[in-house]
Amino acid sequence: MIFAANFKTNHTRKSTKKYIETLLTKIIAKKEGDKVYIFPPATALDQFCGDVILGAQNAYMAQNGAFTGEIGLEQLEEFEIKTILIGHSERREILGESQTFIAEKFAYFQSHGFEIVYCIGEPLEVRQQGQHSVVEYLLSQFEGIDTSYEKLIVAYEPIWAIGTGRSATLEEIGNTHEALKKTLQKPLLYGGSVKPENSKEIIAIRGVDGLLVGSASLDAENFAKMITD
Ligand code: 13P
Repeated sequence: MIFAANFKTNHTRKSTKKYIETLLTKIIAKKEGDKVYIFPPATALDQFCGDVILGAQNAYMAQNGAFTGEIGLEQLEEFEIKTILIGHSERREILGESQTFIAEKFAYFQSHGFEIVYCIGEPLEVRQQGQHSVVEYLLSQFEGIDTSYEKLIVAYEPIWAIGTGRSATLEEIGNTHEALKKTLQKPLLYGGSVKPENSKEIIAIRGVDGLLVGSASLDAENFAKMITD
């Protein structure tokens, strides 16, 4: 199983360090083979010893250069970061990243051998149209993406379930993962209002290879609970 924590715009450099220290003491009990990823804000990127993989929530597709407000490869290399989240719905919707732009970013980090956690997810109006529309919508989010990339992990995060406290039902997750797995032989995470109260039943669903957790991951003990329960 893969357990990934997306801090979004939460935590500081100082609190991230403390968080990882706490988490490491708690996840000694994790199952062999399980992998833990932390995506802190860019200001908290650093090198940590221990059984967690640190990734970037975002970066620009350049070594360095004139891209005000962005970080590039050079800033990630300083901390040996080799994992990145691409395509998160908040970047698509709030930051206006288009599929073309996302695909370019994907190709760039693929060419640099990054492990890529690629996020997809449908808005509520698509979910309301039924499962067929959902799958069609999700598959369209792979336009321009090399789905055969060996270091690709996909995260299915229905937009209406993110930060709302309302996770998709077990049936919705199961059906969607099953449909995606027909065209995608990659690890597939679920994200969207995952918390200790529902994590166990979600990871038990066939086709779910792990979790991408936002709000409920911000507390190290809470996140550790989802990993070790
Ligand atoms: P929440 O767990 O807060 O719903 O966020 C999920 C998410 O967007 C992780 O990338």
